[in-house]
Amino acid sequence: MGRVTTASPDLWHHYGRIRATRDRAVPDTFRWTWSQEDGPGAEALGDLGGRVVGDLGSGTARHAAHLAVHHRPARVDAIDASPAQHAMATGLYGHLAPRLRFANADVVYHLRTSPGVYDVLYSVFGALDFTDPRELLPAASAALRPGGRLVFSSLAHYLGGTAAQPDVVPADIPVKTPDGEATTMRRWVLQARVWNKLLDESGLTRIDIALFPATEDGPRTADTLLVTATRPET
Ligand SMILES: C[S@@+](CC[C@H](N)C(=O)[O-])C[C@H]1O[C@@H](n2cnc3c(N)ncnc32)[C@H](O)[C@@H]1O
Repeated sequence: MGRVTTASPDLWHHYGRIRATRDRAVPDTFRWTWSQEDGPGAEALGDLGGRVVGDLGSGTARHAAHLAVHHRPARVDAIDASPAQHAMATGLYGHLAPRLRFANADVVYHLRTSPGVYDVLYSVFGALDFTDPRELLPAASAALRPGGRLVFSSLAHYLGGTAAQPDVVPADIPVKTPDGEATTMRRWVLQARVWNKLLDESGLTRIDIALFPATEDGPRTADTLLVTATRPET
């Protein structure tokens, strides 16, 4: 009997797929908020001129493409574990190489093999929301050069309004497999003070967590936490 392999389905197969067929442009703007329509922009990352930047859970790499084109970094690495997202990203923005590079990898693995490489790491509702922060944050801290900055946006509460977790506890959220079957994936929606403690325990300092309320009501709107932290110089 032949060997049976059971690769796990790509639960990000459907995400952004329709937009990718209609909108191939490099975005003119960079937004952190859930609505992607308001709030602060790329200035939260600091001056990126000549910097080495990594997008953790970059999806179709729209944010990374914007930075590569409009902010003159040395390099932006768009890192995503989903084969589907990686394929869409390279199809949309492969022409921006070598300033924009693509890595189809789990960010924890990628960061653990990149000690001291990055000036700036960021995530827009990306890997930080879907990966155990007790693994990801120490890996991110070690992958930053001394003085480097981590910036990410995350949900301030669950969609629908339920409060964020007071402990490091994920929720199982409903998603569809590539075949359309219902399943779940883990999402970490944590209170600001929980993020603060996790960042501190990961060796990061100058922690700032700002809340940006949704500007519209509705079941799919959400307030955004924008989190900034720095690896100490020594
Ligand atoms: C909600 S999407 C956001 C994508 C992108 N940041 C954006 O704003 O369009 C989350 C992305 O994070 C990626 N992701 C989640 N956990 C990851 C991990 N541990 N390593 C790499 N990518 C991850 C998923 O594959 C998915 O593409």
